[in-house]
Amino acid sequence: MEAPTWFFYATACLTTLVLILLSRRLRCRKLNLPPGPKPWPIIGNLNLIGSLPHQSIHALSQKYGPIMQLRFGSFPVVVGSSVDMAKAFLKTHDLTFASRPRTAAGKYTTYNYSDITWSQYGPYWRQARKIFLIELFSAKRLESYEYIRKEEMNAFLKGLYLSSNTPITLKDHLSTLSLNGISRMALGKKYMDESENAIVSPVEFKKMLDELFLLNGVLNIGDSIPWLDFLDLQGYIKRMKALSKKFDRFLEHVLDEHNERRKRVKDSVAKDMVDVLLKLADDPNLDVKLERHSVKAFTQDLIAGGTESSAVTVEWAISELLKKPEIFKKATEEIDRVIGRERWVEEKDIDNLPYVNAIAKETMRLHPVSPMLAPRICREDTKIAGYDIPKDTRVFVNTWTIGRDPCAWDNPNVFCPERFIGKSIDIKGQDYELLPFGSGRRMCPGYSLGIKVIQSSLANLLHGFTWKLPDNMKKEDLNMEEVFGLSTPKKTPLLVLAEPRLPVHLYSQ
Ligand code: HEM
Repeated sequence: MEAPTWFFYATACLTTLVLILLSRRLRCRKLNLPPGPKPWPIIGNLNLIGSLPHQSIHALSQKYGPIMQLRFGSFPVVVGSSVDMAKAFLKTHDLTFASRPRTAAGKYTTYNYSDITWSQYGPYWRQARKIFLIELFSAKRLESYEYIRKEEMNAFLKGLYLSSNTPITLKDHLSTLSLNGISRMALGKKYMDESENAIVSPVEFKKMLDELFLLNGVLNIGDSIPWLDFLDLQGYIKRMKALSKKFDRFLEHVLDEHNERRKRVKDSVAKDMVDVLLKLADDPNLDVKLERHSVKAFTQDLIAGGTESSAVTVEWAISELLKKPEIFKKATEEIDRVIGRERWVEEKDIDNLPYVNAIAKETMRLHPVSPMLAPRICREDTKIAGYDIPKDTRVFVNTWTIGRDPCAWDNPNVFCPERFIGKSIDIKGQDYELLPFGSGRRMCPGYSLGIKVIQSSLANLLHGFTWKLPDNMKKEDLNMEEVFGLSTPKKTPLLVLAEPRLPVHLYSQ
């Protein structure tokens, strides 16, 4: 028989391609997909996404509605932008959307998806979650670390006092406060100090954390158009690899030091969170064995989660208040009345300060740290609001839009803490109009720590200082633009003057 010619091969390939395209088309025709803009070949709708993706997506949702479908390169993306849609994705169909897409950030910066944030739904993630909630963030453990948070709060307030009446970058002080706190709770000490022997300086470490947050939030082209991945067009993958080396050097050092101490002291009790993780890693009865890289990945989650988010939130709160001095006045009146002027606010006082709590909630409504939460992925074909959502669709819940939805809020663009007074709306993931920590199975496991740090630092900043803008800067000049990443800080860090308002002896505690 004669050998098939190149013509035969070419025809076979072409026919297969046409059949694949036709079957895809027919499948899509049959599906009732959510409305959305028409995608371009290759890029999909990426041309519509600017440097602040949550705002671009917000604008699109105003046109296409509370559930819309976009295409990022080769991948379908569905966005929920209303209270009902948040409930549908995060409550009714929570299990279907309880996984995360595989992104370059998860691969390169979190030990090949070994941390909690980027790990896929399954036994590994379920066990990790249990460890976080039951072992690391139990009420008892958090309470046992209260003295650390108090000491660090006093050091923070003293630092502000020493810089009073000179312009300071508030976020630097706030992230030092949370970094020192989480370092001592998670790692047992402040590993980043100014001494020559320190494994990393605080400035360098904060730069690493900023880079981690940025790279975990960026729209990396290779994640949307996989065949362009190898070109690393934006240079992000190169940066991720460099960053993961720096973190690994640091985390190896931390684990080595902990293991040495555990060897020296027989039957030592777990003092800090890394001790707890290492102890669990020795446990042969664990459902899924915890390897060294998992301990490193979880530790990185602890430090990253525990540092940036609270600092970003409190910086937004003070910025909003500088625009509305009457809110400052009301808050300090409340604190003076409940606490007096002879002591600082403690964690146990927070429930007695409803107005300060309302300021924290109002800040998180307008400035959620993760405006579209972390991305989820659909684990099986499903239907939401009558629309088909095929397996592997990426899903975002745009809490930034929900926080500004006139159907959920009166005068949504006005910063008004009073809207929470006498209302039971909370931030624990049950009130779908306010989800700064997400909701459902993937909700932030560090919620209880995060909220304590936000409330107590905000209360003490209001209690201890009068805040002013430098150089006769007017409140109208305050820049309220954002930068997008895994967190959404102010584009221009807040520069501000702090004037002490309590008796001097309190600042030297
Ligand atoms: C201070 C304020 C904080 C805010 C506003 C915040 C917000 C969030 C949000 C929105 C998510 C995504 C939820 C979702 O996908 O639905 C998240 C996840 C997460 N947060 Fe937080 N967080 C904070 C503090 C913390 C702290 C203190 C830690 C740990 C020390 C932490 C660790 C994590 C981790 C590990 C995840 C991933 C959970 C998973 O995928 O299962 N966060 N956080």
